[in-house]
Amino acid sequence: GKDLRLSVVVFGASGDLAKKKTYPALYELFKKGFLPRRLQIVGYARTKLTTQELRDRLRGFLDKDTEAVEQFLNACSYVAGEYDTSDGYERLGAALQAWEAAMCVGSALPTSPTAGGSACGPCGGRRLGRLFYLALPPSVYPEVCAHLRAHCATLYGGIPSAGGRTAADGGRGAKGTAPAQLSQGSFVRLILEKPFGHDLATSETLATQIGAHWPEEQLYRIDHYLGKELVQNMLMLRFANPIFSAFFNRHYISNIQVTFKEPFGTEGRGGYFDSYGIIRDVIQNHLIQVLALLTMEAPVSLHPDDIRDEKVKVLRCIAPAAPSDCVLGQYVADQGQPGYLDDPTVPQGSRTPTFAAVRLFVRNERWDGVPIVIKAGKALNERLAAVRIQLRTPPASIFGPLDHMRNELVIRFQPGEAIYAKMVVKKPGLEMDYEMSELDLSYPERYRGVIIPDAYERLILDCIRGDQQHFVRRDELRAAWAIFTPLLHAVDAGGVPLHPYPYGSRGPAAVDPFINDSGYVRTEYTWQTRQHP
Ligand code: BG6
Repeated sequence: GKDLRLSVVVFGASGDLAKKKTYPALYELFKKGFLPRRLQIVGYARTKLTTQELRDRLRGFLDKDTEAVEQFLNACSYVAGEYDTSDGYERLGAALQAWEAAMCVGSALPTSPTAGGSACGPCGGRRLGRLFYLALPPSVYPEVCAHLRAHCATLYGGIPSAGGRTAADGGRGAKGTAPAQLSQGSFVRLILEKPFGHDLATSETLATQIGAHWPEEQLYRIDHYLGKELVQNMLMLRFANPIFSAFFNRHYISNIQVTFKEPFGTEGRGGYFDSYGIIRDVIQNHLIQVLALLTMEAPVSLHPDDIRDEKVKVLRCIAPAAPSDCVLGQYVADQGQPGYLDDPTVPQGSRTPTFAAVRLFVRNERWDGVPIVIKAGKALNERLAAVRIQLRTPPASIFGPLDHMRNELVIRFQPGEAIYAKMVVKKPGLEMDYEMSELDLSYPERYRGVIIPDAYERLILDCIRGDQQHFVRRDELRAAWAIFTPLLHAVDAGGVPLHPYPYGSRGPAAVDPFINDSGYVRTEYTWQTRQHP
């Protein structure tokens, strides 16, 4: 899109998310040449800052490539404004129009927004784009969305804002909606960050409030797990390789484990975390998305809506998680590390879980009866995000019992991306002995020197390109909440026991028997991480 004139507006520009994720991702895209030359990045927040002060703040979050950093910062400006009154949005809207007008000088566009017709006809093929990135607490989404629609949604030249389509969706447009009134592929889009509500009802209310102003095709609900390389690879792994798809069903698979472990607690983020807990923080969104991609049927095509249709379908087959199918934990101080309740931002006596293992079942022909355990925790012994698909023991083994030598397909998202299959092999040597080994695709080894892009980078680029595949559609969100809402209500009411576990441990002791009950058999072999060949 060399002809694109793009304004990115970062709401909450002075906040943590913007500094740590949004701006650095924009910078990387800029540096790698993925952003158009005619670009402005406007920060918007309540904090009174000058453009120069914003630039000085951002510098510390970017790399040491001074030239690129300065070029990038030159494209960054700042507008201070409130979220709940129209004044700031009016100023922002005017500034966006003025910039777009200046960018169209030399093209056939009229020089004043009011001077020339209402369509894009005169702009001679030049495209305008606005991307509003809401790095804000979702409590302000409804008012921000209303004000944005009222004051910032009309592109220069009166081009009506619409989602905009690119080749990524074959120009088909979103299903069930009228074709967008588009001119020359110009667009206005919103990126929204989780948490989307607290449970099914509050999420639906929020979605309705936002939906009153912005149609689904303009909304990009970000789930950064969908931007991870190996999460994206799951589609390819499953549907381009009969070697794997052949056994992807209840006849061969005994159980599935989806694991998320972090070696640090909620230090400093306790205030946010405490009102959500680990199920809302990572399970209801990131990990259920991973599970949907892992268990869904083949989509009709790669059209974003075809893929999301399949995800919704499989999510709707997952029975709501039962409190009896859940183990909860909260970390306590150990070896000099503070407990969850020692964090001053956490309310005294909080019963918010920082660890959860939840057993789910997909009630369909392919998966019925296969236990799927999603396990996630803070302040554990290591950093890991992975899926482990464990197969059944071979029937009538002629080698004697192979109970503890099960095949496993492991997809390791981080750290050190890898896909490997544990298998039984003949132990090299004169004896007819056997041992566990693996078929191993370790990315750091196989793709030496290849830099895997950050998830935010990839997703922002997708949004600019109008590809909604890796963004969460409203019905997906609804289906995901439906799975966890009854359990969350039981947890909030104190109806599920909470087990303490030491900081830096593997989690509460109760989790091992729970996982064993789900059919998981610990194999006799441990894969060696190959991160630094
Ligand atoms: C965020 C959660 O969405 O994801 C955090 O709010 C969590 O609590 C983070 O730490 C994990 O992301 P990643 O990419 O570091 O695995």
